[in-house]
Amino acid sequence: MTWTVSPSGPLRGEITVPGDKSITHRAFLLGAMAEGETVIHRPLIAEDTDNTLQAARSLGIETVQSGETVKIRGSGPGGLREPDNILDLGNSGTGVRLLAGLLSGRPFLTVLTGDESLRKRPMMRVATPLRQMGAAIDGREGGTLLPLTVRGGELRSIEYESPVASAQVKSCVLIAALQATGTTVFREPALSRDHTERMLLQMGVKLSRQDGFLALDGDQIPKGREIVVPGDISSAAFFLAAAAVREGSRIVIKDVGVNPTRTGIVRFLQAMGAEIEIHAKGDEGEPVADIAVRGTGNLQGIEVPTEWIPSIIDEIPLAAVVAACSRGTTRIRGAGELRVKESDRISTTVRMLQLAGVKVKELKDGFIVEGTGSIKGAAFESHGDHRIAMASAILALMADSPSSVSDTGCVATSFKGFPDTLNALSPSAVEIHKGGMSG
Ligand code: S3P
Repeated sequence: MTWTVSPSGPLRGEITVPGDKSITHRAFLLGAMAEGETVIHRPLIAEDTDNTLQAARSLGIETVQSGETVKIRGSGPGGLREPDNILDLGNSGTGVRLLAGLLSGRPFLTVLTGDESLRKRPMMRVATPLRQMGAAIDGREGGTLLPLTVRGGELRSIEYESPVASAQVKSCVLIAALQATGTTVFREPALSRDHTERMLLQMGVKLSRQDGFLALDGDQIPKGREIVVPGDISSAAFFLAAAAVREGSRIVIKDVGVNPTRTGIVRFLQAMGAEIEIHAKGDEGEPVADIAVRGTGNLQGIEVPTEWIPSIIDEIPLAAVVAACSRGTTRIRGAGELRVKESDRISTTVRMLQLAGVKVKELKDGFIVEGTGSIKGAAFESHGDHRIAMASAILALMADSPSSVSDTGCVATSFKGFPDTLNALSPSAVEIHKGGMSG
């Protein structure tokens, strides 16, 4: 599927975005482990989260989906069964890494795999702590790459210092730790998104967090409950960015999750001079707000502090687009993790900007973008990466002539309705052409 994207005028209107992907994965998997029923309101219904739900079903979990609600009858202790086939998590790093933690505590064999992109992504970061806890993990290249086999069983607690600030590693270890004997202690080099910790607390699990470390006693079973999933800030971000750079824009995005471990993009836009207001709506475990943006079209490049990186990690390709549409230099460093996302996002972001005639320097762990505000229409490619496809569309809105974005089927992993939502704010900005790459 190819999109044709026309340069747009100011964006106007009020929208909502689909449910948060990270929170939905956690709700499905913690719901599957819980005692009792978990009722999840407005989860993300998309390929990534469908794969996680399907995996839970293959493990014997009963789920009922009706309208915007998914009910999960939890297995409680010992309730999952050995799946009779390989579990394919598609494109989802979160799905596969969290499941590895869950399965490590269950006395059976599972084989986990994913699509071409996921089969290239590093799995040793979860294999190492899970092996230390006593699970038998194997896979290609000694457990570095999928497919991965997990033979779970009795787990012991560990003290683990993660070499990367990764919420997927942290969540994997915490989910395994629930099933272990003794107290697991986990440290990470910087605070990654903390949705798992928040949801565990909501589900009655005792967990202490202080001075950069987490401690969790084993043999705890989460209790099923109602979970309301807020809108995904990572999906909202595309419209926040587009409105911030296009002068005269005025948009409101309702009911977005504004967990501070995720709002780096808002801090980034504000630091560049964007006018953004956050209207708090409530906090039932996760803070939720309406976000209003007024486009000034007058943004100035910045040096992004490295401590912001975990909270803006998935929005860095988009931040590069904003930088290209602003004045002055923007430097992003300390983001080497981008190389092991759905694509090598340092290289795919740099290529996207170069196609639009933007001056950009690729670094090992980031890039430097020279903003001139002059963007050329181009033939962009998604590289099979949903966030690169959507970031390219936002760049194309700001170009001097129409662009195309090819191979956009990948947006179904997180946000199939992206073109419609963009068109709601900027009529006829995106046209969809079914068919092949040039469509
Ligand atoms: C996620 C954590 C982040 C993020 C990913 C989703 C999660 O990855 O990039 O899109 O839901 O835990 P890492 O934790 O590996 O950095």
